[in-house]
Amino acid sequence: MYSTLLTNLENNIFTITINRPDKLNAINKQVMADINAVMDEVYNNKEIRSVIITGAGTKAFAAGADISEFTTLNAAEGMQTAKYGQNVFFKIEECSKPVVAAVNGFALGGGCELAMACHFRIAGDNAKFGQPEVNLGLIPGYGGTQRLTALIGKGRAIEFLLTGNTIDANTALQFGLVNYVVPQEELLQKAKSILEVINSKAPFAISKCIDAANHANTGVKGYETEISGFGECFGTSDMKEGVVAFLEKRKPNFTGK
Ligand code: COA
Repeated sequence: MYSTLLTNLENNIFTITINRPDKLNAINKQVMADINAVMDEVYNNKEIRSVIITGAGTKAFAAGADISEFTTLNAAEGMQTAKYGQNVFFKIEECSKPVVAAVNGFALGGGCELAMACHFRIAGDNAKFGQPEVNLGLIPGYGGTQRLTALIGKGRAIEFLLTGNTIDANTALQFGLVNYVVPQEELLQKAKSILEVINSKAPFAISKCIDAANHANTGVKGYETEISGFGECFGTSDMKEGVVAFLEKRKPNFTGK
């Protein structure tokens, strides 16, 4: 039904698996379109009470937006890409049914942003989190600058964004980015056991808890600022160099232009 996703509905828990393991589940245009469509199914299917998002294979949740699609974008197209991605991820965040990220490996760039758009996160012990866009001469564009700041605090978030460093699962736990770290093979079971508890509650109350929590720190302007910044990066030589260097498997030579 979705060319880049696997789905499974069992005991009212809907599991969505990004299925591009050979590309570490990188989020290309089709993955983003499929996530958009699958969220419509989540919204409309009354059998679905709660959702798990995970990645295929044992190595990655999602290693970011698909960098190979960034080579030809100009500033305006960069902004459109960020706007669309933000809207799809808002659909996850604003879903009235709980959506949990089961992070089974790399959650980098857009993958970390996808995990953060979910209502909470559980990490496998091999999980790694990061916003390495700065290594490409770029910034996060799918809500990362806003949600990371909300989840781990501004000081840690800014260090994270500016260094492009990755952190392991236990550091993510210590920062409050994830709620639990479990052996990778127990990840889905842990998510399901929590969702079974949630599924036993009144759905309307669950939806209102999510809605209220989502309104605790609303920063619409911040998201717009991120879209502009993301798009403007596409007008720089450094961003083009960063992307080409990644694809050519070499270190970028940034010149400040
Ligand atoms: N976009 C496109 N392709 C990606 C990708 C991404 N974000 N992340 C990984 N891939 C691809 C690689 O190009 C490679 O493809 P190939 O086999 O056709 O050459 C494949 O996935 C496997 O990745 P590889 O780099 O060989 O795995 P690794 O174990 O050596 O390294 C990472 C893993 C995650 C450290 C590395 O893939 C990486 O740095 N990815 C990019 C992360 C990033 O910058 N994300 C933010 C994007 S905005």
